[in-house]
Amino acid sequence: MNKERKYLCLWIFYIYVTIIQCDELASCYNQPPESCPNNQCKCILTDESSIFCCRTRSYDDLFRNIMCSGNNTSTKLPAIKALHIYNMTADRFDFGKFSNQLNHLISLSITSSSVNRLFGRLEHTHQITCLNFSNNAFGTEWPLNELQVLENLKTLAMLDFSHTNISKLPIIKNEVPKFWIDLSYNNNTQCDSLLELMGSVKSSQNKQLLFKNTNDTFCNTTLSFNWFNSTEILAFDQIKIIDKLNTQCPSGCKCKWHGYEMISDKNVLNTVEVDCSNNKLSYLPINLPENTVVLNVTNNNITNIDALVLVDSYKDLRFFYADKNKVSSILALEGSRFMDNYAVLSLKSNQLKSIPMYILENSFTRSFEGHLVNLGGNQLYCDCSTAQYLKVWLEANHKHIPDYREIQCENLRYKVVDLDCEIVCVTQTDWTDYMYYVIAAEISALLLLIGKVSYDYYVFKTAGYLPWPASKMPKLPCDWVFE
Ligand SMILES: *[C@@H]1O[C@H](CO)[C@@H](O)[C@H](O)[C@H]1NC(C)=O
Ligand SMILES: *[C@@H]1O[C@H](CO)[C@@H](O)[C@H](O)[C@H]1NC(C)=O
Ligand SMILES: *[C@@H]1O[C@H](CO)[C@@H](O)[C@H](O)[C@H]1NC(C)=O
Ligand SMILES: *[C@@H]1O[C@H](CO)[C@@H](O)[C@H](O)[C@H]1NC(C)=O
Ligand SMILES: *[C@@H]1O[C@H](CO)[C@@H](O)[C@H](O)[C@H]1NC(C)=O
Ligand SMILES: *[C@@H]1O[C@H](CO)[C@@H](O)[C@H](O)[C@H]1NC(C)=O
Ligand SMILES: *[C@@H]1O[C@H](CO)[C@@H](O)[C@H](O)[C@H]1NC(C)=O
Repeated sequence: MNKERKYLCLWIFYIYVTIIQCDELASCYNQPPESCPNNQCKCILTDESSIFCCRTRSYDDLFRNIMCSGNNTSTKLPAIKALHIYNMTADRFDFGKFSNQLNHLISLSITSSSVNRLFGRLEHTHQITCLNFSNNAFGTEWPLNELQVLENLKTLAMLDFSHTNISKLPIIKNEVPKFWIDLSYNNNTQCDSLLELMGSVKSSQNKQLLFKNTNDTFCNTTLSFNWFNSTEILAFDQIKIIDKLNTQCPSGCKCKWHGYEMISDKNVLNTVEVDCSNNKLSYLPINLPENTVVLNVTNNNITNIDALVLVDSYKDLRFFYADKNKVSSILALEGSRFMDNYAVLSLKSNQLKSIPMYILENSFTRSFEGHLVNLGGNQLYCDCSTAQYLKVWLEANHKHIPDYREIQCENLRYKVVDLDCEIVCVTQTDWTDYMYYVIAAEISALLLLIGKVSYDYYVFKTAGYLPWPASKMPKLPCDWVFE
């Protein structure tokens, strides 16, 4: 490619990214090491406003050599539009020193230069579209006040930080519709710094962040970053999952990656954990992130758990922790997908008044071992049948209801397991005995009536008159049946 065409490409790139939104990734002005000049001057003008500099040793050295590049005899620097500094031996690069000289730059590359610090702010007058810092040595020590170094670059569309050992990413406040960044081959990039960048771009509309070389992009989890404590280095795919989680997470809740789940030999699902505990919620959150398997809504004011059955985003839920709420019924769960799949249903210290044994029983009898239900701290309405049936049932299913000993009675000063039939059922026995008397009395009365009617009939047939009081009763319209 000849020099004129390279220059043209750069301009087209600039116009594309700032005016037209292109999907193709352009590169910065970049010369191969073979193009390094062999003469006295370390810089070479490759076209009328693009300069390539090799192996300069200091800023002064760099200035001097930019001046001698091309046939420039004046003492004024040319209006450079593209600059590639290759293998410079300065360990820090101070943009402040260049403020005036770099005013017309569109593309700046400082590559293979063992630069470990960037200083000074590039001012907004700079129209830099492409920055390439590939192959440098930004360590983890990049101080906070230097993160603003690129803040004023409104037209920055391509930033190459590959092979730089960068840890914390600088703040970007550009205004281009599509922003490409290359963070490949850095194992020290902090995941939260990367997520912050992804979040800041997403918070502004009509802006898109695109990553180059994602297969070789990783980030480092630190101790403060507690999402993946099993893996230290995260692949880009996982970062994207976390980033997506952050946007889908219900407000006031915390969402975490839970783990992998094999759905078939090839398909792996990244499952999600949502923590909405201590939140003063009176309803279950409606929109859970995709593949949410764990939901913790402990210590809220939730009265109703119908969402478990009705809401689509609850379809993968298997661990439901809703301790310390105001749930009064689990009848809605009958026959639901949740009851087929759940591993934990935790409803400690709620307001359940009864336990529908048949709903739970169905899930316990399925072959899957993991169905655990916590019901401790609920205050049931207890009566004789609680003592006769529920207590026995709880004891039989203690493996599934480990805290069954903590279930209380609201109306009696007992725990359900301490209920004694001989005490609880006494009043009920009296009442049933009384019922027997009533029934016996009713049967006797009926027998008497039948006897009296038979006697009347017999007397009427044999003696021809009705005994008292039948004879005194007025005739009814239907009496002809008997006569
Ligand atoms: C940055 O420079 C390196 C070589 O120094 C090159 O391989 C890479 O493509 C450049 N990146 C961009 C975006 O131009
Ligand atoms: C940079 O230049 C030095 C000599 O000044 C050389 O030893 C080194 O290999 C060069 N590095 C690269 C990446 O070309
Ligand atoms: C990257 O930075 C870390 C932390 O400053 C340092 O320990 C490590 O040696 C650096 N790696 C390279 C290849 O420079
Ligand atoms: C990145 O990895 C995926 C899956 O391993 C592969 O399909 C894709 O081709 C890779 N992309 C590149 C640019 O290497
Ligand atoms: C994360 O750490 C906690 C406590 O250190 C541990 O219980 C848990 O199993 C770890 N999670 C993973 C996925 O390793
Ligand atoms: C539940 O609501 C009541 C008032 O309605 C409030 O006093 C209480 O703090 C709430 N509890 C929780 C855990 O949000
Ligand atoms: C649910 O949240 C509560 C309150 O934050 C916490 O104490 C409990 O350990 C959590 N449960 C699980 C299983 O994470």
